[in-house]
Amino acid sequence: MSEVCDKAQKKQDELSERILSSIEIMDQRPVFHFATPGGWCNDPNGFSQFGNRVHLFYQYHPYSTQWGPMYWGHVVSDDMLSWELKPVALAPDSTADCKGCFSGTALEHEGKHILAYTGVSNNGTVDIQNQCIAIGDGCVYEKLSENPVLTASDIPFEYNIEHFRDPKIWNKDGMFYMICVLKRKDDRGAMVMFQSDDAKKWSYKGMIDSSKDGLSNMWECPDVSVIDGKDCLIFSPQEVKEDYNLGFHDGNNSIYVTGKFDYENAKFTREVRPENGYTAALVDYGIDFYAPETTRLKDGRTIMIGWMQAWESYITPENYIWSGMMTLPRELSFRNNRLYQLPVHELENWKKDKKTGTLQKEGEASAVYSGSRQFELALNLADSKGTVKIRLGDAEHNVVVEIDTDEGFISFDRTNTATPGAIPFRKAKLRTECDAKNLRIICDTCSLEVFVDDGIMAFTNAFFLENKISDLVVENFSSKNITYDFWKIECKN
Ligand code: FRU
Repeated sequence: MSEVCDKAQKKQDELSERILSSIEIMDQRPVFHFATPGGWCNDPNGFSQFGNRVHLFYQYHPYSTQWGPMYWGHVVSDDMLSWELKPVALAPDSTADCKGCFSGTALEHEGKHILAYTGVSNNGTVDIQNQCIAIGDGCVYEKLSENPVLTASDIPFEYNIEHFRDPKIWNKDGMFYMICVLKRKDDRGAMVMFQSDDAKKWSYKGMIDSSKDGLSNMWECPDVSVIDGKDCLIFSPQEVKEDYNLGFHDGNNSIYVTGKFDYENAKFTREVRPENGYTAALVDYGIDFYAPETTRLKDGRTIMIGWMQAWESYITPENYIWSGMMTLPRELSFRNNRLYQLPVHELENWKKDKKTGTLQKEGEASAVYSGSRQFELALNLADSKGTVKIRLGDAEHNVVVEIDTDEGFISFDRTNTATPGAIPFRKAKLRTECDAKNLRIICDTCSLEVFVDDGIMAFTNAFFLENKISDLVVENFSSKNITYDFWKIECKN
């Protein structure tokens, strides 16, 4: 292990020890979501099944609760809800990545775990980004001596060498493929594809897709999947302009496009999405969702996980020694040409003490629960019209989710928390195919993930409230009585 890695490992050990031995800190943290073992984390990386276990790596900076030179942290799980900490997998300790090991993905191949990541180095003038490979056994990873395996000289056109990153690697019919994102010379985001038969020597195949209608000048974290027979690209464009009808917000968004992946000509032909009449749609409409990655499990499910934060929404309290967590892993499916996302079904094993109730129409505020902030509330709105407000907290310190089926929106308000951040409020138009007949709201200490109409629309938001503030009150201002189911979610360990 290099000195740089060894030092980061010691820091990780020290921080996780401090966290585990402090009830106060443990109380701040989510229970069934991955959160950094101390320091900072952003994007999920290398989310993959290797052997029988699911591996998750993440962009990691152990030395502060802010972004810094990037390492890859590493955890493994059997149920994607409780995670076992592993040694730091990658450190910026070689010539090809001395300025950081940026995002990438992983693949199981012939009993080995292959990681593809971006090595950031410096050419004497600027930081440049190239692609690298490391191979491991699920615990220890060794970088190839051939790194970087892809550089500017492999691409037959000019682009901004400071922005060429985030390799997604996969294997199809014995051939390795990789797509990366880059910034074209005309300042548009694009996705390019490479091919290799040994994961070491790569050749350029073509530009799969690039930014249309000036949507974005750079894309991040590309993902390729085939879900229920449908070819799907997910990626995260930067500097998007707000568009309420499409659901886009100012800044970094995560979107998906569907259509046909043509390997022969290295092209992705987009189709128009029925939910908005455009060739792309937002993956999640909340404030805190970015850089999602999918993996296909051996049982056939496609699972997506995202960073439960956005670059624009840092809200970590000043005294915290950790910053950054992931969303719940979500099962993806296409039904009727609609993308659905729902928490992995393993969550059902953690739910207990089911309680049901009715919320009287037109303005009755009902206290549903008061207790630990790990729960699921499922609301059956049927065909009621009007507003339902779900408030978590007390009169002074709280967060509120509001759903309005008359006006057709869902909103989240964290103004009344100690750290509302740069984005204290988000209002999203309900998607056209969304009647808001049912809602699943999952709370884990400091996040609320809302799944509307069996997961046709997801709305993810984080917040920080003192742990003892935990009253859950629902106000039904709508035209009908609505029913609910409620479960506590308890850690199995
Ligand atoms: C996305 C991103 C990636 C990059 C990484 C750096 O959030 O900006 O494009 O590889 O984070 O930490």
